[in-house]
Amino acid sequence: MRALVTGSTGGIGEAIARRLAAAGHTVILVGRDGERADAARRRIAAAVPGADLAREVADLSLMAAVRDLGERLDPLPDTVISNAAVVAPLSATTPEGLQLTFATNHLAPYVLLRTLAARIDAGPARFVIVGAAPRALARVPVDLDDLQFRDVRTLGPLASFRPFAAYGRTKNMNAMFGYALARRLADTGITVNGGHPGIVKQTGLGRHARGAFSAFTTLLNPFVPGVDYGADNPCWLATASEVEGVSGRYFVRRKEVPTAPHTTDVARQDRLWESSAALAGLPVAL
Ligand SMILES: NC(=O)c1ccc[n+]([C@@H]2O[C@H](COP(=O)([O-])OP(=O)(O)OC[C@H]3O[C@@H](n4cnc5c(N)ncnc54)[C@H](OP(=O)(O)O)[C@@H]3O)[C@@H](O)[C@H]2O)c1
Repeated sequence: MRALVTGSTGGIGEAIARRLAAAGHTVILVGRDGERADAARRRIAAAVPGADLAREVADLSLMAAVRDLGERLDPLPDTVISNAAVVAPLSATTPEGLQLTFATNHLAPYVLLRTLAARIDAGPARFVIVGAAPRALARVPVDLDDLQFRDVRTLGPLASFRPFAAYGRTKNMNAMFGYALARRLADTGITVNGGHPGIVKQTGLGRHARGAFSAFTTLLNPFVPGVDYGADNPCWLATASEVEGVSGRYFVRRKEVPTAPHTTDVARQDRLWESSAALAGLPVAL
């Protein structure tokens, strides 16, 4: 297996890469910073002697870089774990004019997996999209008329929580996009599944946390597991024989679970697909 893992310079992504490498798979690490990617590669090589590792540099908040990554990979991966994500300040925008959390967490996997699906063609291949906890996400439906959180008041009364509500919406976009892509790839050998890694510590996700939200996550820390726990569900989805041929589902702790009706609604998924195509400059048809 040749697995591409985004966001593998730290946190859960690095643990996923390490685990796949330890199982004997070739792993392509993706990081936005060459030095951090090399450092992750060295850490994994030290932990897994003989690990077969490659690395690619791409800033996934920039759609030109995402498209370039998808088009230049050679040989192609047969497994892609879309894991990179950020919780950025709401005012943060990319040089391409996109809100940073939206660009990194939703539009990047949209462009990367669409680009790779077109190149991989018939498969077989597995795409795994790392999402978040379906129960928590049920409370933050995607506003299809405001994909980039321009009306910040709709993100809740507490300013310190709003970037995390926006992040939650992008994680719902991950589920919706996964279902929509799986439908479009149903006649191929490419499967697409989403999964929650679990709430884990030792990651950089909350690095911009402020105020009440920061205090809340610090309080939770002693009670939550580390990154190896978070790697389990995505690695299982990428490799397990039990999920061979299974597509368009969502998993928590290796069990299929339903996600909120606002994510499974096909008309809503297709609206998100079409708006994303317009923002990414891609045709609507796959
Ligand atoms: N931690 C949790 O409790 C939890 C719970 C539910 C879901 N998740 C999900 O698990 C996944 C991994 O999160 P984590 O907790 O491991 O977070 P993390 O430690 O912050 O890791 C995120 C990774 O994404 C990379 N990344 C961010 N922006 C990027 C960009 N523009 N281009 C390329 N790479 C970029 C980061 O690279 P840099 O090193 O360059 O920053 C890092 O390697 C995410 O999808 C997250 O939504 C995590």
